[in-house]
Formats: sequence, structure tokens, C-alpha cells
Amino acid sequence: MRVGVLTGGGDCPGLNAVIRALVRKGVKEHDVEFVGFRDGWKGPLEGLTMPLGIEECRGILPRGGTILGSSRTNPFSVDGGVERITDNLAAAGVDALVAIGGEDTLGVATKLADLGVHVVGVPKTIDNDLSGTDFTFGFDTAVNIATEAIDRLHTTAESHHRALVVEVMGRHAGWIALHSGIAGGASTVLIPEQPFDIDEVCELVKQRFESQFAPVLVVSEGAVPADGTGMTLQSGELDAFGHVRLGGIGDRLAAEIEHRTGAEARAVVLGHVQRGGTPTAFDRWLATRFGLEAIDAVADGEFGVMVALRGADVVRVPLVEGTGELKLVGPREYAAAQVFFGG
Ligand code: F6P
Repeated sequence: MRVGVLTGGGDCPGLNAVIRALVRKGVKEHDVEFVGFRDGWKGPLEGLTMPLGIEECRGILPRGGTILGSSRTNPFSVDGGVERITDNLAAAGVDALVAIGGEDTLGVATKLADLGVHVVGVPKTIDNDLSGTDFTFGFDTAVNIATEAIDRLHTTAESHHRALVVEVMGRHAGWIALHSGIAGGASTVLIPEQPFDIDEVCELVKQRFESQFAPVLVVSEGAVPADGTGMTLQSGELDAFGHVRLGGIGDRLAAEIEHRTGAEARAVVLGHVQRGGTPTAFDRWLATRFGLEAIDAVADGEFGVMVALRGADVVRVPLVEGTGELKLVGPREYAAAQVFFGG
């Protein structure tokens, strides 16, 4: 059997661990030959392949990024994209494809599976916003990087009696902000799911300055002010899947805090630092287990599914469960963190 593998969307720590696990088990236990497709869906769309075997996977377990490359190419927005993909898969002699990606990459996989392509999905994203799985790999690494940044920012904020605003990724889900904010003892956490009132944020800033400590605020890149609360944002350009490119709320918030409270405020945008570098042990473990289960699904001829973490078990669920609806932070979970906000 010949199996194609691709990694699509934003890269994320643990991608290489999935590839390594797929290949090791596929070659050793299922007699699979692999072909790597480069740069996400661009690979099968343009017939861009690379050799993929045990030798190519040596030493990649702790490495960030992806040896296959990635892109946000959407074959459904390209004329004849689907036909080109099926033709190129056939030309490469591929019987099945493992697509490792987030909402967009797995959304394409879901549509292709409906059209009869033999696809198995592996959920990845630092944003942790895919339904159907308790966690995606990459999230734990991003949270750890953000938490370390918050820890460091506390001491410099205190020394200078400044407010520090840390902008983290997560798109329209506040998981990275909430988990790193709780772990790092943030003075408040602003997430997309709960539009904020700038007056309330400034009140929390003032409360925190009343102690001998200084406020460190964590804001998710997708956080928005509530309507009618005196602060508005401009929306940005769109990517190939129609998503707005986010970013900039940290600077806006710091400027508003300075203006409204008179306290000095600075913003730190963590950006792609959260996605780069070596995965945590948890992400290596989760990515490895996902890879092992995905190649077993292929060997069992079970397609149109993605692997998922449910409690401590790695299971297979229909692809559509992962891509149908985003997994967002619920009001109760956010409310539980609020006891730590302010002073
Ligand atoms: O989905 C992962 C993610 O890192 C988001 O948190 C972020 O909004 C987006 O990708 C950034 O994408 P890009 O690297 O294409 O700018």
C-alpha cells in the first residue's frame, strides 16, 4: 500500500512527531510505502512530492515545523482543483492520504472524503479550537511559551510600574490566552468569546496598581470590544480560506489603557514565537499517539475519519466532527478565571 502524507495550515510543534510515528509504524507493521506531499494541499494540487521513509524521519522528533512544508492553499478556490488533486494522487500511485492540519486543512479533507478520496485526518493547531478532540497537539507548547513570557513580564512590569499587555494567538478561540493567563497569573484575560468593556479593563488595571504589583494583561488576538463600550477595531485582510488576518489588539489596548488611566502601558506581541521551536513532551507524546492511530486507521481501511483524544484514549471520529463547529471557551470556564482578575 502507498500512502501520501501532507501538513497544511499554520505550522505547529509536533507535526514532525506525527510524521515519524506514521512512517515508523506504517513501514514496520503495515508494509506501507510513503510519499510526502509538499506544502499542504499545494503538494497534491501541483504534484509536488518528496521521498518519505524511516531515514527521512531520523532526528525529527524534537524539531519544530514540518519536514514536508506547509501552506494555506485551498484547492476548492482553484479552478479544477479537485480533479487536479485526484489526478496527482493517482499519478503518485497513492491509495490513501493522511492530512495533518487544522480546521481548514481538515475541512478540505472532509470534502474530499465525501467525494470518495481515501483520507484520514490528524488534528493539529496551537489554537486548540477543533471540536471532536479534547486537545490538539501544539497547544501545550504554545501555552508554555506564552506562560514563560508572562512570568518574565511580571518582574519588568513591577520594576517600572507599567501595565504590560501580552497579545497571544488563537484566532477566534481564547484557549491559549485563558490557559497561559491562568498559569501565568495574569491580571486579566481577554478572549474573543467574551467581548470586553474597556472601562472595566481599566478598572482592573487600577486595582492591580493599588497593590505593590503591576498588571500583566493577556489578550487573545481575536478579542473584541463589546458594542457601545467606546472602543472600535478595524478589520483586516482575508487569507485563502476567507479568514481575517488578526493582530494589533495588544497595541490598541495598551494605548487605550495609557490614555484612560494615565499609567504607562506597553504591548508585547508573541506572534509566531508561539508556533516555533521544539514541542513539549506532552505534544510529542500526543502527536506520536495520533500518528500511530492514523496509520492503523489507514491499514484498517477506515477513511473519512480523524484521530482524536478523548480523555486518555486516542480514538477515531468522523472527520466532520472535527471541522463542523469550532470549539470555543465556554462562559463557565471563563468565569472561573475571573476571581484572579484585578487586584
Ligand atoms: O491557526 C494557527 C495560527 O497561528 C493562529 O493562531 C493565527 O491567527 C494564524 O495561525 C496566523 O497565521 P499566519 O501564520 O498565516 O499569519
